[in-house]
Amino acid sequence: MNNFIYQNPTKLIFGKGEIARLPQLIPADKRIMITFGGGSVKRNEVYDQVVKALAGRDFIEFWGIEANPSVETLRKAIALGKEKKVDFLLAVGGGSVIDGTKLISAGLLYEGDAWELVLKGSYSKTVPLATVLTMAATGSEMNSGAVISRYETQEKYAFYSNYPVFSILDPETLYSLPKRQIACGLADTFVHVLEQYMTTPGQSRLMDRWAEGILHTVVEIAPRALGDERDYDTMSEYMLSATLALNDMIRMGVTQDWATHMIGHELTALHGLTHGATLAIVINGTLRTLHDQKHGKLLQYGERIWGITDGTEEERIDRTIARTEEFFRSLGLSTRLSEEGIGEATIAEIERRFTASGVHHGEAGNVDGAMARRILEACL
Ligand code: NZQ
Ligand code: ZN
Repeated sequence: MNNFIYQNPTKLIFGKGEIARLPQLIPADKRIMITFGGGSVKRNEVYDQVVKALAGRDFIEFWGIEANPSVETLRKAIALGKEKKVDFLLAVGGGSVIDGTKLISAGLLYEGDAWELVLKGSYSKTVPLATVLTMAATGSEMNSGAVISRYETQEKYAFYSNYPVFSILDPETLYSLPKRQIACGLADTFVHVLEQYMTTPGQSRLMDRWAEGILHTVVEIAPRALGDERDYDTMSEYMLSATLALNDMIRMGVTQDWATHMIGHELTALHGLTHGATLAIVINGTLRTLHDQKHGKLLQYGERIWGITDGTEEERIDRTIARTEEFFRSLGLSTRLSEEGIGEATIAEIERRFTASGVHHGEAGNVDGAMARRILEACL
């Protein structure tokens, strides 16, 4: 195991009805800005629960943080927050609302333009932020990351600030999610685990077993999470799996990949494709292209998650990658770029961007522009 520091300060409040606990969690003297997306919380009554809980408290509302939150919108929230002297932020929504609110929390204490913060990559001087989660996928409710887009230039980059001080996870809020969002959320959760697991074996038995525990759980609950019945237990496991997949817990002392995510962000920036949907395509290309480097871990994953033990090592790996692709298809997601009408022009642009910025992603630092091209070509 490598050396590491672990400190996750987010308090998790989990279960039905827990939104009512908001007034006990936010200090009474705070001037709060509550941030929202496009209105799903009005339709599923999460909004009513939040404003009822905070009745009599000093709050303003900011609406309209989009899926794949844009700096263009977030600048408006920062201006409003500065004008109203906001000193506490409550994000009510999915990863996009939470991510956007993380940039607001830094932007409120920064004099320059918010995009400068994104380009800096991190900024830890922030106004406290808390969340009421309504979409399980990103882990943003219990991590310090945010991914912010700039629509005018079709760019999308990760930015790191502070962890939410608390997050309320009520699985009942997930009942109103469209099936496609659930599919994308399950895919995102699964790939978050793979990004931290599918590297080289023998680094930590404990991290491997935790990661495999989440993968098993996601595979097991997926059919019921996508089914027609409202099933509280299934939604509970789904919600907590997503949080634990990206709250730093499964990456203590081990190497990480993240190349699939970096390529996926480009697909979203260039085509608007939903985050989880990009991963369900790119991960297969990553595994196919880098199977030599990930050989030992692919064998372990194939055996422990999919029960693949027969045949030569190469046959086992091929079947493991095929089985993984089948899993994403079982969620109803595309697994090939061609199915989304994406081809050579996009591959060339992503290769150009990676080469121009000189990036070297992945656990071996070998995913540059040329390797990104090979990965994407393996997804056609
Ligand atoms: O905007 P509203 O009206 O709220 O609708 C949203 C949105 O259209 C809707 N939705 C959310 N909760 C709902 C609901 N609809 C019905 N019922 C509910 N309970 O779902 C749509 C998608 O929401 P969004 O927040 O965009 O989804 P998600 O949580 O998947 O977040 C995606 C964003 O997070 C970033 C992605 O890149 C993307 O920008 N990520 C953030 C990470 C992090 N902070 O650590 C890591 C991830 O890898 C990811 O990159
Ligand atoms: Zn993700």
